[in-house]
Amino acid sequence: MPEGTYYFPEGFLWGTATAAHQVEGRNPNNTWTAWEQEEGRIINGQTSDLACDWWGGRWREDFDRAQTTFQNAHRLSIAWSRIQPAPDRWDESALDYYREMLIGLKSRGIVPMVTLHHFSEPLWVAEMGGWENPEIIDIFTAFVQKAVEALKPYCNLWVTINEPDVFALSAYVVGVFPPGKKDLKAAYQVMHNMVRAHARAYAVIHEIQPEAQVGSAYHYRQFVPATWFPADRWMAKVFHTLFNDLFPRTLKDGLFNAVVKKDRIPEAIGTQDFIGLNYYSNDLIRFNILARDQMFATLSFPKDAQMSENGFIANLPDGMEACVRWGTQFGKPIYITENGVEDSTDEMRPRYLVEHLHALWRAINNNAPVLGYFHWSLVDNFEWERGWTQRFGLWGLDVETQKRIRRPSVDLFAEICRMNGISSEMVAQFAPESLPRLFPPA
Ligand code: GAL
Repeated sequence: MPEGTYYFPEGFLWGTATAAHQVEGRNPNNTWTAWEQEEGRIINGQTSDLACDWWGGRWREDFDRAQTTFQNAHRLSIAWSRIQPAPDRWDESALDYYREMLIGLKSRGIVPMVTLHHFSEPLWVAEMGGWENPEIIDIFTAFVQKAVEALKPYCNLWVTINEPDVFALSAYVVGVFPPGKKDLKAAYQVMHNMVRAHARAYAVIHEIQPEAQVGSAYHYRQFVPATWFPADRWMAKVFHTLFNDLFPRTLKDGLFNAVVKKDRIPEAIGTQDFIGLNYYSNDLIRFNILARDQMFATLSFPKDAQMSENGFIANLPDGMEACVRWGTQFGKPIYITENGVEDSTDEMRPRYLVEHLHALWRAINNNAPVLGYFHWSLVDNFEWERGWTQRFGLWGLDVETQKRIRRPSVDLFAEICRMNGISSEMVAQFAPESLPRLFPPA
């Protein structure tokens, strides 16, 4: 077997990503908390409840875990609903608590990246129409201003909005996120408002903190036509334009191209300092006249792909390279803001991890300016409408006892972070089935 190490660039950020609602627990003012109470919304009627109990202080032990396993960065989000529980009320104690968390990261030598919107809002925002109402642009900007002013001494890496593409699709087309709509017009309006809110937030953050680095995190998927039929090929293009291109292209050239309707949003031009990319898997896409609720498309995975525990993710590491290549067209530095797999037994994760990082390494060696990688996630957390059925953590979580379970991937990722690379030795130890792919015999 050939021996060697694929090294990453000096100063590369290695860490994990989390989101407030998924890890904090007990946040009554939040849209997702209310959504979980409605019958039939979450698989098996599960609720986030304590989640990972970060609001109760367990972030400390989890940040210790990150630190002692050589992670030097962490991406978390702050809950708007805690900071502004009512339109006319700021909760300074919530800001103090986030301040403490960010100091907690910095004192452990961990660089924070903060997401300002990750799938959830205060209930009062939802009551006034949420992201469908253009008033949200002013309201979100006011929240961003308040939060960044408070937290700027501890952070200069900001993600305005996490996965606007997934949010608009899940909340306004498929209807599995609150407010559970199936309304393409509403989805259009939401994306449009999100672009404008991002642009305003970008300007405000830079006013407060000139040295800030501001971007969004996009969920990228390659849509591969399932057959050679022109309808499938056309569908792949439409999905690519709507899902992948729509938001970041508008920030590049101001053209908001939603295929059937276009607009110009000139104030969005030039409002990204970096591109955040969340890559998990790709889809085969087929035109389906009957699938009105899914925008006339049926998605599937290649038949021979290795599948995750619940069939949610196919292990398609080449897609990581394609994702990064796509990201380079915007001419900005790139962070992989999420990548991971649901796997409670850790059978697939080591292989998924090294193969995706190898694909990332290849992209970097083709001159892609990638500055860091955040694995989803540090510890198992509440997976939205899929509740606790999907386990993405390096550490497992016993939800009842809050006990953390150290999976083998913890040690693998720790080695990667420590060495700033992937060695043949670690692949042989943790993911031997990936050896021929990563270190092919001469
Ligand atoms: C992303 C999302 C994360 C996490 C992850 C795994 O779409 O941003 O919050 O849920 O998927 O499913």
